[in-house]
Amino acid sequence: MKIYFAPMEGITNHIFRNAYNEIYGHIDKFFTPFISPSEKSPMTPRERKDVAPENNKGIVLVPQILTCRSDNFIEAAKELQAMGYNEVNLNLGCPSGTVCAKGKGAGFLSDTPALTRFMDDIYSYADSANLKISIKTRLGYSNPDEFYDLVDIFNGFPVSELIVHPRIRSDFYKGEPRMEYFAYALEHAKCPLVYNGNIFTCEDLNDLPGFADGRLDTIMSGRGLLSDPSLGSRLKGLTSDTDPGKFRKFHDTLYNAYRKIMSPDINVLYKMKDLWAYWQHLFEDRERDIKRLMKAKKYAEYEEAAYRII
Ligand SMILES: Cc1cc2nc3c(=O)[nH]c(=O)nc-3n(C[C@H](O)[C@H](O)[C@H](O)COP(=O)(O)O)c2cc1C
Repeated sequence: MKIYFAPMEGITNHIFRNAYNEIYGHIDKFFTPFISPSEKSPMTPRERKDVAPENNKGIVLVPQILTCRSDNFIEAAKELQAMGYNEVNLNLGCPSGTVCAKGKGAGFLSDTPALTRFMDDIYSYADSANLKISIKTRLGYSNPDEFYDLVDIFNGFPVSELIVHPRIRSDFYKGEPRMEYFAYALEHAKCPLVYNGNIFTCEDLNDLPGFADGRLDTIMSGRGLLSDPSLGSRLKGLTSDTDPGKFRKFHDTLYNAYRKIMSPDINVLYKMKDLWAYWQHLFEDRERDIKRLMKAKKYAEYEEAAYRII
């Protein structure tokens, strides 16, 4: 089976990807957090740095684009191709209010005529430029039954991979994924499928429609891999690969890398605390130290708490 690391804005940047890839590995593809092209420029200097091949050595990386304008998508794709990328991913899932209000992300799913015109444009370009375009989508904007029409639309284009997060926009990331709709995709989608959402254990994997009978062999995980970085090796059946020293190394690699590029202390600590919000469940017996860590304002306070925990 193949495992993809889900894009997570503010978290799975190149610093994180390099640390994870070096220490835990077993990821078949990483995706960048979304790049949001504008009329002025296909990407910001910060997005350009994050996606630059020299900052992602040894990593299979797919840049993700968030827009509802085909001209902006194509300009960003051209720049990414010039960097050496032969696949880009279209974000049709972001549930954020500001994104959806502009008709992007999950907000694009509610205007299927516009989405079809957009796809006509970008897949014509992809054909002429020998580019693969994969899609990461939700089931719909306000009703999961929107998915039936969306699958018909996607089937009209050479989608290189369809990553389905089986929730609608108003679900955000909560509640149970709507597995029956993923089962529908397995029956009706013509392109290769990837499942995404709430994979936290090996049992979650075995319960997925299509997994047991081999119709599904690729999953994408975000919060699962983040909250338990050794999950990837376990999902792949490599149970011996659970060295606890790896977590300390992972933590230190991230902490030192952020200290090199960010200042003052508090900004680095915000970044680390965002990660600890996912990691804390690994250390349920260290509640007091976690609380102290979350309150730390200086490196010394942070380190005192962190190194009592790990
Ligand atoms: C903090 C955060 C940031 C995210 N950023 C992105 C993003 O940039 N692009 C995207 O397609 N999905 C983004 N997602 C959604 C994840 O990629 C993924 O679809 C979602 O977390 C469900 O998968 P999981 O249950 O394995 O985490 C984000 C999710 C979270 C929680």
